[in-house]
Amino acid sequence: MGATIVVGVAGGIAAFKAVTVVRELERRGHRVIVVPTPASLAFVGRATWEAVSSAPVHTGVFDAGGANHVEIARMADLILVVPATADLLARVRAGRADDLLATTILAATCPVVLAPAMHSAMWGNAATRNNVEVLRERGLTLIEPASGALGSGDSGVGRLPEPEVIVDAAEGLLAHRHKTDASASGHDLAGTRVVITAGGTREPLDPVRFLGNRSSGRQGIALARRASARGATVTLIVANIEGSLLSEGGEIVEAPTAADMERAVGERLEDTDVLIMAAAVADFRPKVVAETKIKKDPRDESAPTIELERTPDILAGAASAPRRPRIVVGFGAETGTIDEVLARGRAKARRKGADLLAVNAVGRGRGFGDVENTLHLLDSAGGLVDVISGTKQQLADGLLSHVAGILRNMES
Ligand code: C5P
Repeated sequence: MGATIVVGVAGGIAAFKAVTVVRELERRGHRVIVVPTPASLAFVGRATWEAVSSAPVHTGVFDAGGANHVEIARMADLILVVPATADLLARVRAGRADDLLATTILAATCPVVLAPAMHSAMWGNAATRNNVEVLRERGLTLIEPASGALGSGDSGVGRLPEPEVIVDAAEGLLAHRHKTDASASGHDLAGTRVVITAGGTREPLDPVRFLGNRSSGRQGIALARRASARGATVTLIVANIEGSLLSEGGEIVEAPTAADMERAVGERLEDTDVLIMAAAVADFRPKVVAETKIKKDPRDESAPTIELERTPDILAGAASAPRRPRIVVGFGAETGTIDEVLARGRAKARRKGADLLAVNAVGRGRGFGDVENTLHLLDSAGGLVDVISGTKQQLADGLLSHVAGILRNMES
């Protein structure tokens, strides 16, 4: 069934390619409402848009004919901006409402996809990088610009991707969104055996000390609760989670170290349909664990050097096991700008072989504890499947909807 898609057009030389995008969307059965910015009309005029979309076209909030931004935003299943200029990104980031397109985006509750195109110097400018990062964190989807000849005659990154690439990305997002909506409530995981790991492992140095991390376990617990509410039989394997957080029923297995967790997961692999590795498992552990507490020598100021060794990668091991769960899901907490986070996430998705990798940005107060968060969901090839924002429960539901969707596809 066709969707209602608002195509925003900002004032860049690539605006002419938006004509092909509109045509292609219509050819694929969607209803298109074109909302150009006033500046974009210098590149492609109103008459062109009225001809290709067979509808009146407005640019301002107070245009004659009373184009209503709230009404347009409500009708839209998706807003797609082609091209998104540096100025448009800055305005959306700032929450400006100075033309019909910016106001519609501000009023929208549907997914918003931006296809930036600009000179590579503008794309690389710190202000634009920062705008891109903030917009992605807020859950907007930004399609990476392509590399090649630019309008200025230079070449570099900043070119609008081909219209089919943009239309495919928009349709991909719509398809996932519809599946998610259809199954967010109800027992879509009934009869499914789900194993979820949560918390952060602690790798002992001696009987009283350990190397650990700041994972609270809340995301894994939210997944366990939601999976259980949606009908799954859940086993929660926990590493060092505060007892008060574990109030729900279901099987709970303690696995404080990476080695314990490897064992607990390994024992269940064959009887599990879905494995979700939400735990922060240590990548390194002390090579030798002292049998007694490591003491400082009062006569000596030196400090010991602790040799580390790698821990087994439980996720990669599970994904490549001969009798693996039908779906293996990993998490990737990454630091850096959102671009760096996504690039590292893509590499990790390919390396680990998990069916889904939920990448989130952590550090600087992001990601840990009881806070709102954004997950970029990647497939095993590193392709972006969805961007989900919200509380840990909303993220859990969004992720589980994809799991349920994959299971349905496997069965049909
Ligand atoms: O490589 P990285 O630690 O960033 O990968 C994170 C993902 O891999 C998480 O899903 C985590 O549970 C899993 N992991 C694992 N075994 C390790 C390290 C991480 O299963 N030793």
